[in-house]
Amino acid sequence: MTETAEQETVEEIDLTAANQVIDKYIDMHGALMPVLQGIQEEYGYIPEETVHLTSERLNVYASQIYGVLTFYAQFHLQPRGKYIVRVCMGTACHVKGAGRIAETLKGHLGIEHAETTEDLKFTAEYVACIGACGMAPVIMVNDATYGSLTVQKMDDVVKKYMEMD
Ligand code: FES
Repeated sequence: MTETAEQETVEEIDLTAANQVIDKYIDMHGALMPVLQGIQEEYGYIPEETVHLTSERLNVYASQIYGVLTFYAQFHLQPRGKYIVRVCMGTACHVKGAGRIAETLKGHLGIEHAETTEDLKFTAEYVACIGACGMAPVIMVNDATYGSLTVQKMDDVVKKYMEMD
């Protein structure tokens, strides 16, 4: 039986870092949250294997861990891109053409909300107001904010990141 590339990738995850995170908090009351936060910091997301590892080592049901992971928006169950492009879809940005900005992003990278490019370079997220309505329409790429965007400006921003490592 041949395994898919995805299964092989999943099996290759090195659990050393996850074990170290668990070692650090295992004796602490309420260890689950810091463990999950630490694992996400190490891997950039919460790989499925680390859920099972955490379940075994902290003696918590995996279903309970998934409950926590899905409740808190801070946790991600899929790998994410190096560059997280947040396109504001709040009212002010919507009125000023956020839809065109999202379309421009999709045109370059082929991704929409919550999707990641195959090379793991970009993840797109459509978000609610990010508090910079005076500069609508606005996007953020990781911590950098870009406002008063036109399609042309958005082109330039995306191309700049496409050329970066
Ligand atoms: S609506 Fe986009 S920053 Fe407020």
